[in-house]
Amino acid sequence: MTIPDIIIAIDGYSSTGKSSFAKIIANEFSFLYLDSGALYRGVTLFAIENGFIADDNAIDVPALTLAMEDLDLHFGEGGTYIGNRCIEKEIRGMAVAGKVSPIATVPQVRSFVDRKLREFGRMKRVVMDGRDIGTTVFPDAELKIFMTADPLIRAQRRAEEMKAKGTDVDMDEVLKNLQERDYIDSHREVSPLTQAPDAIVLDNSYMTMEDQMAWLKDIISERFGE
Ligand code: DC
Repeated sequence: MTIPDIIIAIDGYSSTGKSSFAKIIANEFSFLYLDSGALYRGVTLFAIENGFIADDNAIDVPALTLAMEDLDLHFGEGGTYIGNRCIEKEIRGMAVAGKVSPIATVPQVRSFVDRKLREFGRMKRVVMDGRDIGTTVFPDAELKIFMTADPLIRAQRRAEEMKAKGTDVDMDEVLKNLQERDYIDSHREVSPLTQAPDAIVLDNSYMTMEDQMAWLKDIISERFGE
């Protein structure tokens, strides 16, 4: 199946499988996959390592804003980089996970990340996943998908992922954490997670990856012809 030079924006709640779906789409159509959350995580690592975020999550916004002027955060071979240092492993760890939500509420951080994402978007043939791609970063994206799934099913998926990595899990804890993140992501002042009016909802509670790809191909044929 061929697909025109478009931007595909995928937004939605945590643990709905946005990045897995986006990677498979990128592979299927030879698109570039961009993980916007990785940039928020990269800024968070930078903020931690430079002492811009305190233990109580208080952020030194002026110092962080100034330092970001020289922050060379980018994607490269095998993931996300600061300069020539690959930070992919560190940004997936608990230290970053615990502080990324507050960092992502800082407007100066959001505009820093938006600028980087828009540079990539100029190339078209990109699929990006995040929370505000179809609403703020690329409001003109030709195809917008909003992903959701039953919170209990999402919690189960997350718990399985954590178990596979050897982490002990308490389902109640996982569900609570997920609901907290949903709340913070949907209620922050700048670019909250909301469904763009022209986004198509994908509830994948009971769908396999094959089901999701078949769903997408139907939409692409309808919208863009073959
Ligand atoms: O998708 P993720 O879990 O890697 O995202 C990490 C954090 O970054 C998450 O708390 C929400 C935030 N984020 C955001 O605010 N806007 C985006 N476009 C992507 C992620």
